[in-house]
Amino acid sequence: MRLSLAVLFFDVLDYIDPLIGSDNGGNVFCGATLPYGMAKAVADVDGQNTGGFSTDGSNITGFSSMHDSGTGGNPSLGNFPIFPQLCADDVIDNCVFPKAERATHYVNESVVARPGYFAVQLVNGIKAEMTTTQHATLYHFDFPEQKSSNAIALSPLLQLDLTDLWISRQNASISVDAMTGQLKGNGTFLPSFGAGSYVLHFCADFSGAGVKDNGIWVNNRAGTEPKELFVTRGFNLWFTEAGAFVHFDRPANGTISVRTGMSFISADQACQHAATEIPTWDFDGVRSAAEDAWREKLSPISINAGDVSKDMQISFWSAIYRTMMSPQNYTGENPNWKSPEYWDSFYCIWDQFRSQLPLLTIIDPSTLSSMLRSLLYTYQNEGWLPDCRMSLCQGWTQGGSNADVVLVDAYVKNVTGIDWNLAYEAIVNDAEHEPLEWAHEGRGGLNSWKSVHYIPYLDFDYLGFGTNSRSISRTLEYSYNDFCLATLAKALGKGTYTKYLSRASNWKNLFKADQTSFINSTNTGFVGFFQPKYMNGTWGFQDPVACSILGNPQFCSITTNPSETFESTVWEYNFYVPHDISTLISKLGNDTTFVKRLDFFHETPGLADIGNEPVFLTVYEYHYAGRPAKSAERAHYYIPSSFNDSKTGLPGNDDSGAMGSFTAFSMMGLFPNPGQNVYLLVPPFFPEIGVTSPVTKKTATVKTKNFDAGYKNIYIQSAAVNGKPWTKSWVGHEFFTEGWTLELVLGSSESSWGTKVEDRPPSLGGSSGGVAARDALDI
Ligand SMILES: *[C@@H]1O[C@H](CO)[C@@H](O)[C@H](O)[C@H]1NC(C)=O
Ligand SMILES: *[C@@H]1O[C@H](CO)[C@@H](O)[C@H](O)[C@H]1NC(C)=O
Ligand SMILES: *[C@@H]1O[C@H](CO)[C@@H](O)[C@H](O)[C@H]1NC(C)=O
Ligand SMILES: *[C@@H]1O[C@H](CO)[C@@H](O)[C@H](O)[C@H]1NC(C)=O
Ligand SMILES: *[C@@H]1O[C@H](CO)[C@@H](O)[C@H](O)[C@H]1NC(C)=O
Ligand SMILES: *[C@@H]1O[C@H](CO)[C@@H](O)[C@H](O)[C@H]1NC(C)=O
Ligand SMILES: *[C@@H]1O[C@H](CO)[C@@H](O)[C@H](O)[C@H]1NC(C)=O
Ligand SMILES: *[C@@H]1O[C@H](CO)[C@@H](O)[C@H](O)[C@H]1NC(C)=O
Ligand SMILES: *[C@@H]1O[C@H](CO)[C@@H](O)[C@H](O)[C@H]1NC(C)=O
Ligand SMILES: *[C@@H]1O[C@H](CO)[C@@H](O)[C@H](O)[C@H]1NC(C)=O
Ligand SMILES: *[C@@H]1O[C@H](CO)[C@@H](O)[C@H](O)[C@H]1NC(C)=O
Repeated sequence: MRLSLAVLFFDVLDYIDPLIGSDNGGNVFCGATLPYGMAKAVADVDGQNTGGFSTDGSNITGFSSMHDSGTGGNPSLGNFPIFPQLCADDVIDNCVFPKAERATHYVNESVVARPGYFAVQLVNGIKAEMTTTQHATLYHFDFPEQKSSNAIALSPLLQLDLTDLWISRQNASISVDAMTGQLKGNGTFLPSFGAGSYVLHFCADFSGAGVKDNGIWVNNRAGTEPKELFVTRGFNLWFTEAGAFVHFDRPANGTISVRTGMSFISADQACQHAATEIPTWDFDGVRSAAEDAWREKLSPISINAGDVSKDMQISFWSAIYRTMMSPQNYTGENPNWKSPEYWDSFYCIWDQFRSQLPLLTIIDPSTLSSMLRSLLYTYQNEGWLPDCRMSLCQGWTQGGSNADVVLVDAYVKNVTGIDWNLAYEAIVNDAEHEPLEWAHEGRGGLNSWKSVHYIPYLDFDYLGFGTNSRSISRTLEYSYNDFCLATLAKALGKGTYTKYLSRASNWKNLFKADQTSFINSTNTGFVGFFQPKYMNGTWGFQDPVACSILGNPQFCSITTNPSETFESTVWEYNFYVPHDISTLISKLGNDTTFVKRLDFFHETPGLADIGNEPVFLTVYEYHYAGRPAKSAERAHYYIPSSFNDSKTGLPGNDDSGAMGSFTAFSMMGLFPNPGQNVYLLVPPFFPEIGVTSPVTKKTATVKTKNFDAGYKNIYIQSAAVNGKPWTKSWVGHEFFTEGWTLELVLGSSESSWGTKVEDRPPSLGGSSGGVAARDALDI
């Protein structure tokens, strides 16, 4: 074993900054969690609080143990916050109970965020620190010494609020144990981006000081009797603020410890989690176990950073860290059905399928396998694969049925432990049967899909119901979903594969060859765009720049300006044919015009939205036109200028680590086209990287010659795999499982490496002229 001193003293946790993306809409969860943990503890603020906390300088409203990371839309979870305070003159009614009134600013410089740990100090001097296990959190609240007007030391008060970040609480119950102060209860809440409701239970125990008195509070009043409360959401959904409180004697050393357990099953189970996971209230022990869990999860990856700045290293490791927040392991916590495993917070698969889940295929395949089994249990018990899922509920579908891609991506990468015939059945269900509520499962417009072979503009669809929009982006995504289904069907020897392969070409039906695009009344000169088409074959029209800041409307989502493309432009979706980019290139002209169009797209301010996932693949599509050097330029164009280690260092919602995975794959120099056994090669951002397969224990290595930390030499001149010349601009997953060594010779200008037709990545139509590449798809 060769260990340098640098390696010996390297602790990956020193390179993780959970506060990256904590401002500017990254919405990351920056508190204490285990990898994929259910308990996620942090301070909740009243500013950018989608993930709980933000460094935006807003006020803290409480400390809570359930969160999602990086999501958009409504703030997620944040249930049952605890808030510490000292009541003036020690009179309970002098404490302020309602959320808006109690909100208190924090000392900016006091924030400490580390894997498994979070700490902050309020401007009133109260300090909080927290660490976590799988379902439980241990908090320390440290109260400064403060005296009342008659010189009596004030006693700490902790309140628990029966609410969540979104104030979605319906009914809730709480009880307080008069002797110990133990708080137990439950509440019904709404999922932040889904249908239905969920019930969550809690249990909180205290230590460090004697219990002085306790009781319940409603609005801004509290009483020591009764010890139980049931609160509803009755008249016009009016929200009553309520909860319980415990008032303590002055703690010996100023600190009160709070141990909370969470459960979707029962309050007793929540208490049991807390008692078994944190039996001795050993804060340092819990914290170091969390740190070890993170070190272990990050251990497959190693880098030789050479002269690359610490900032870039922090950006890299933190990005990988964020890909292991969600999905969350809720095994044993699903009240709706019994299955050996259950995962939640697939939030949303539309974000995660592109690179976040593919990254786990490499660095944590056994966990990915467990997640996929859970998707299939969800199919078996709810009838459908989810497209998005949070808090035990089906989330809203944004585009296609992209769990199909997730499953097939794992199949082509030999992930084990999956019943592939069941996976096939579940994907066929998406492709063939239209659910009544395709707003949150399956696909809409399937009659038209099967008869006219595209999703029509203003489709006549009486089978199922969803927002009848996004006909272009749904056609493109359904085409790719069916391609993935065809891949699995062929591999399993099913005769249906030709049918699905033919549907995989449905995208061609919305290609309008003579469509032009104007920006500011100036013709961009590019011709040929996807356009909406009525069922009768007549073209509709959507300005190719609509749904960007250059168009009108400027933003299009499911209910905000529903349009024929989802959250992006026709310009951007014009590149979304992941399985047949070679045919797309021919339709758009030739390699040269395709490269020009990609350049124009990325370089025209406002056209490419680097802050949202549909853009990811476009950064690397130059490979398909024989210009891998331009993909490398493009990766450096966006990193670090749009993805860096500052608190505002993410260009959009991290979306459960999707942005993190884009950063990680880009910096490793291997970018996936998920659903296919393909990684597109660019030089890594470090002189050398290694990835040890947790399955085969073999180490895949990328080594470079002529690497320079100023990133002048970002052009591959030649490559070798295991000592033999490698002319292809891509590798398959065997690179990881068989532990290949890839050596890249770099230079300061573009070379002919990877430009030949036969060296391009596989594409259904063959590589403009060549057919060799299609064979690699094995379809
Ligand atoms: C704390 O940080 C916020 C956000 O950056 C800033 O607006 C505020 O002025 C800072 N407060 C202090 C006291 O520095
Ligand atoms: C934040 O809390 C401080 C007291 O800590 C208060 O003065 C201020 O008004 C609050 N700001 C908001 C926006 O509520
Ligand atoms: C809330 O409680 C009321 C009264 O007990 C009951 O009728 C209602 O079904 C409950 N709603 C929820 C969402 O639990
Ligand atoms: C919530 O707690 C109350 C009081 O213990 C109990 O009566 C009720 O059944 C619980 N609700 C659920 C959904 O478990
Ligand atoms: C007070 O004591 C508790 C329990 O021993 C300990 O965890 C905590 O760190 C102490 N707090 C201070 C401020 O010393
Ligand atoms: C998921 O959680 C369960 C229960 O806590 C645990 O037994 C299992 O090992 C976890 N799975 C993974 C892949 O971490
Ligand atoms: C369009 O016009 C705006 C405002 O005049 C300008 O800022 C922008 O650069 C123009 N964009 C292009 C692509 O010409
Ligand atoms: C097709 O339908 C559209 C929308 O109803 C209509 O405007 C158009 O005239 C129709 N085309 C033909 C050829 O009937
Ligand atoms: C590509 O298409 C453009 C525009 O039609 C044309 O000018 C150019 O000659 C073509 N290039 C090649 C290599 O065919
Ligand atoms: C870091 O990324 C953010 C978000 O994309 C960007 O606004 C900022 O300019 C970047 N900072 C640097 C120094 O490149
Ligand atoms: C998957 O397994 C097959 C059969 O062992 C093997 O030929 C293939 O190379 C493997 N593929 C990957 C991506 O590891």
